[in-house]
Amino acid sequence: MTTLVQLSGSGSLHRQIYESLRTGILSGRLKPDIRLPASRELASELGVSRNVVLLAYEVLVGEGYAEGRMGSGTYVASSLPESMLTASRSGPRVRPELQAAAEPRISAFARRLDIKKGSPPDLGPAAPELRYDFRYGFADVKTLPLQALRRLAGKRLRAPSLNNGPAEGMWELRQAVADYLSRARAIDCDPDQIIIVAGSQQGLDFVARVLLDPGDRIAIEEPCYLGAREVFEAAGAELISMPVDDEGLVVSKLPPPSASLKLVYVTPSHQFPTGGILSLGRRLELLDWGEQTGAYILEDDYDGEYRYEARPLEALQGLDRGGRVIYLGTFSKVLFPALRLGYLVLPDPLLPYFRAAKWIADRCTPPLLQEAMADFITSGQFESHLRRSRLTFASRRKALLSALDRELGDKVEVQGAKAGVHVVVWLPQLPVRRVPELLERAARLRVGVESVAHCYASEPDRAGLLFGYQSLTEDEIDTAVSLLARALDEMEGGGSARGAPL
Ligand SMILES: Cc1ncc(COP(=O)(O)O)c(C=O)c1O
Repeated sequence: MTTLVQLSGSGSLHRQIYESLRTGILSGRLKPDIRLPASRELASELGVSRNVVLLAYEVLVGEGYAEGRMGSGTYVASSLPESMLTASRSGPRVRPELQAAAEPRISAFARRLDIKKGSPPDLGPAAPELRYDFRYGFADVKTLPLQALRRLAGKRLRAPSLNNGPAEGMWELRQAVADYLSRARAIDCDPDQIIIVAGSQQGLDFVARVLLDPGDRIAIEEPCYLGAREVFEAAGAELISMPVDDEGLVVSKLPPPSASLKLVYVTPSHQFPTGGILSLGRRLELLDWGEQTGAYILEDDYDGEYRYEARPLEALQGLDRGGRVIYLGTFSKVLFPALRLGYLVLPDPLLPYFRAAKWIADRCTPPLLQEAMADFITSGQFESHLRRSRLTFASRRKALLSALDRELGDKVEVQGAKAGVHVVVWLPQLPVRRVPELLERAARLRVGVESVAHCYASEPDRAGLLFGYQSLTEDEIDTAVSLLARALDEMEGGGSARGAPL
């Protein structure tokens, strides 16, 4: 019985055999030119099929660790470099003395990045178990028009565009988006002013690259969308936090022209996360401020399609006469984030720079996706979907508001419910420091909620939760809110008795 191959028990069988032999070769235990066991022999020893062993050998040969010799079997390669033979498989890939010296020589931009980021937010240990997930940003697969999208994409795939499209985006989609924006958001633009981007996050990144140098001063809302803050911080800008209230950004607090701001970032349709809707008066005041200071106004209209109590106010872009507004829209809320499809509407003088930035970043947004989306809009299906989903989300919102009222009454204050697909729920009686405990208790009851704290530059002075209600049915919302009330109850009672102070 050979101990040549040890199966680790994790991963596919051929991979386990490959890894075991590779480790033997790299550690020097299997010397160059020794013959590996015949595949049939090794297969019967390990109790696996011969094909599995053959596949493992094939990979070793393909990667140069082994070589097949005509008529006589598979051998450890004779010409492995010395350095590979002494490297331990489990040890560091780079020589330790080099690794120690090697603080990577990165750019100032890279040093400003938060390297803990780079994938979707950590869902936490309880996440796979969550039955009711209010955390922000999840779309509802049941309400999405996937069949229509599949049909349209399939049709385009029969004769796909094989080359890169124009950096600014396919003409059909820009035309369709311009028409839609003029109908739905009172945006006055020519398709030439539109650049299709890979989600609004890429749009934010281009705004920073094209307009900002390290040290430039910009104003952002406090609290603010983290995705925007991160981009501006990475650009090295100096961020000045501006207060918001029930009418959104408090425009009167913006610094005067002498402060030489380059940009203000604003979410006028539904302040993120607190939900204020920028009043017409403030919109006009903001545009006036932009003209006086020469700063650009970045209007992030991420969920402007959803407004429940009145007609949406027209976008800032539609009111702009000074060419100061950069409008940013996305399909992430109205469809789903994984589409990675958004659009910028730009003042003419900025267009060539954004087009060039897009070209060097990724050439263009995938043409197939753009074409399918153009068909989806021009066929009228996009707006039917919007009408349907607006009704669905209106009922979910209503269910959430009444469940919160019924289950939590005056323990909560709800903010920002007039629009969008999330609300902020303040818990005035809960100390801020106890929010993590509440989230944990809720998760144990299989309810996912998140704190608003990550939206603040400095710690908020009240406990608040962000409730995304897009992906839960009314019944689920009812159950989830009563479970959340139970979690709070448990905290009040220190886990058992009710009514003790928090
Ligand atoms: C304020 C704000 N802007 C933009 C976005 C959308 O980002 P993207 O289009 O990159 O998915 C979101 C989504 O969560 C958001 O909350």
